[in-house]
Amino acid sequence: MPYARIITIDGPAGCGKTTLGYRLAEELNYSFLDSGILYRAITRHVMNVGAKPHQLDSVQAYTETLTLTIKKLRPRFQFEINGKKVSKLNSLQIDKLVPIIAAYPFIREKVRAMQREIAAQGQVIIAGRDIGTVILPDADLKIYLDVSLEERAVRRHAKQNTEERSLDQVREDMRLRDIADATRETSPMRAATDAVIIKTDGLHVDEVVATVLQHAYIEPENED
Ligand code: C5P
Repeated sequence: MPYARIITIDGPAGCGKTTLGYRLAEELNYSFLDSGILYRAITRHVMNVGAKPHQLDSVQAYTETLTLTIKKLRPRFQFEINGKKVSKLNSLQIDKLVPIIAAYPFIREKVRAMQREIAAQGQVIIAGRDIGTVILPDADLKIYLDVSLEERAVRRHAKQNTEERSLDQVREDMRLRDIADATRETSPMRAATDAVIIKTDGLHVDEVVATVLQHAYIEPENED
């Protein structure tokens, strides 16, 4: 297999990690895990069971026995929380609460275990905030997507469907989420020192895919 076995993609909200991840998975016939959905699903669960997101004790009490189970890796990752599928993970309310839930170390531990289990199978791409730095520091290839807040906000604003947020609101919500993710104590969002940083402002996704594939390619060793 002439490509990196494990590829990590980190970067801020709306930087295109998921689009890139799915495209690479298709090109390489790898599995793709978008770790953000695990934090979103736990946040939804916390809301469903009536825990108080801002109170550590409350979240801890309601998530102590929470189990995350992988149902399927390909073609699309599927998982369950306490034996049930969790849906509706992209609401505005979840966007606001997820950085709070994701900052609790005991929540990150649960997600970390699942991420490492998936990575152990190899031929996988995992996207998130701390994958190259904390979850898989030995990954073969680490990518960090760097895109201006303005471009991310414009893209996200164009894609929004049911909610009606102005561009200014979308930009401000993203800015606050970036700050929360980058300044938390446990596993803050940042590029690994050995990550390939790709600035994608103005680039088409095909160009980003091509760049990552170049980095992922491993020259076969000459045997004579
Ligand atoms: O990538 P996405 O925007 O879906 O992530 C939602 C939230 O989940 C992030 O804002 C962050 O708080 C959390 N997250 C994280 N670590 C990851 C992936 C996501 O803390 N590896």
